[in-house]
Amino acid sequence: MTSYQPIELRKLTPKLGAEIAGVDLTAPLDPRTVDEIRQALVQNGVIYLRDQKLSAKQLIEFGRHFGDLFVHPAGADVEYPEITRIYADERSTRISGEEWHVDASFAAEPPMGTILNLEEMPAGGGGDTLFASMYSAYDALSDAMKTLLIGLTATHSGEVLRGRYNADDGATKYAETEHPVVCAHPVSGRKLLYVNQIYTTRVVQLKPKESAALLAFLFAHVGTPEFQCRVTWQENSIAFWDNRCVQHRGVWDYYPDRRCGKRVQIKGTRPISAC
Ligand code: SIN
Repeated sequence: MTSYQPIELRKLTPKLGAEIAGVDLTAPLDPRTVDEIRQALVQNGVIYLRDQKLSAKQLIEFGRHFGDLFVHPAGADVEYPEITRIYADERSTRISGEEWHVDASFAAEPPMGTILNLEEMPAGGGGDTLFASMYSAYDALSDAMKTLLIGLTATHSGEVLRGRYNADDGATKYAETEHPVVCAHPVSGRKLLYVNQIYTTRVVQLKPKESAALLAFLFAHVGTPEFQCRVTWQENSIAFWDNRCVQHRGVWDYYPDRRCGKRVQIKGTRPISAC
């Protein structure tokens, strides 16, 4: 068990999620605090920080402590391309990320992490975000299933995003790529399950019906409550998740209320096979 100083850390569940206190992200961060945040992220998968009222510029600066920022192919802010606005109100017909997913897994090099800063929460409550550990999802499979999955690859496609964002002019070419079904985390080295409901379309080595049946099982498996933690947001707080080993989904239980914020994503590397 790591002890942290200067940050204070309280686990949300034994395997996933931690709340961090003792850090003011509006002030300059010293290297030791940045190192502890990076370590807390890798060890806990998701970290949550309250009372962080950040401008777009401050959120970008915070994100840059962890690497170059990933510009999402859809939905970028006009003034700050690194920022994606998250917004839902009574006119919304969908919200961003309502099913389990890894952010932008359709990219050859998906973001290593996402930092979401919610500014306004629904007046009547709700609007939590669920997170699921893909280490736990992999570990819980039988040895026979692990053996089947370990050599497989799957296609991830961003086409599902077409038409979902204002910025989509119909001409954007969304990426399609292939990633291993079981990956190894580049820092921890642990094996994890790497398929998700929004972007994974097909297991390359299987026949279409086999692929569909296997993915349906794995997508249901990802949503197992024992793999999860839940962030119940306060306004002006931050969740920072390790997009390499955690899936998430937003819960839209607050319609017609308004919920809004902004996020940045940090560039990652190509997911590596656990073979
Ligand atoms: C997302 O998945 O893009 C957003 C999740 C949330 O708003 O809770």
